[in-house]
Amino acid sequence: MPAQAISSYCYTIASIIFISRVLFMSVSLSTLEIIIRKAGDIALSHFNDLQNLEISQKSPRDFVTAADVAVEKFLQAELGKHYPEYGFWGEESGQSENQINRWVVDPIDGTHSFSKGQYYWSISVALEIDQELIVGVVFAPALNDYYCAEKGKGAFKNGKKIKVSNETDLGNSMIGTGFACLRSYLEDNNLERFCRIAQKTTGQRRLGSAAMDLCLVADGQLDAFWEQELNLYDIAAGALIVQEAGGTTTDFKGNPGIYPKQILVTNSKILDELLTLM
Ligand code: IPD
Ligand code: CA
Ligand code: CA
Repeated sequence: MPAQAISSYCYTIASIIFISRVLFMSVSLSTLEIIIRKAGDIALSHFNDLQNLEISQKSPRDFVTAADVAVEKFLQAELGKHYPEYGFWGEESGQSENQINRWVVDPIDGTHSFSKGQYYWSISVALEIDQELIVGVVFAPALNDYYCAEKGKGAFKNGKKIKVSNETDLGNSMIGTGFACLRSYLEDNNLERFCRIAQKTTGQRRLGSAAMDLCLVADGQLDAFWEQELNLYDIAAGALIVQEAGGTTTDFKGNPGIYPKQILVTNSKILDELLTLM
């Protein structure tokens, strides 16, 4: 390719990135909060009437409820109305055409807990531009906890800035994980890893919503969390929130990044110790 063509190509790419950033500036966090809280009301209307909740199975041990579908439908319509420049990827409806700049949405993370009447489930919404997470929101309607972060601007819970814990000793730590029972065909099903790590810590939790688990690390309620075989929509918003709160997101080898198939999230101080046990 001649040098002139290369430079014109680079200029075009740089312009696209610049325009994307400018478009992003138009996302209002308060508008987003209004939309997500309304989605929370839809979820709660089903949660408060569980006896009549329609539940079906996408595959064995993988439930979807009328609430998951209704919340996603609402978010897709509202986000599309306010921000038509972005595409959409939701767990229940799949991917729209524009996947370069997109909303990444899990309408209810923790569907099983939801369907049992437990309070620990959340709505997870992230904005990703050119593969970079720019905004992340995780809202737990039954707890009325609203976590959010904007790239470079810190992480917040219910309007107050949050940061990861100061725990430096794995021995004193509280860790969280999840078990991919849907993926029971996997040779590595996390049980051995869990036992190995659990014995070296003081507290262990399996709370049932990966999006929330990441927020608990961001808020210092957990010192670390890991899980396997997730999807980007489970962790995108939570990953930005924990990064902005001073935490690390890596794979099980310690490579920095967001790895849904192998995500390890820590307060950064126990990362090295934990990596030796992964
Ligand atoms: C699930 C939750 C759970 C995790 C599962 C996920 P869903 O998401 O995040 O904590 O262990 O692997 O699939 O199905 O409730 O959206
Ligand atoms: Ca999920
Ligand atoms: Ca879900």
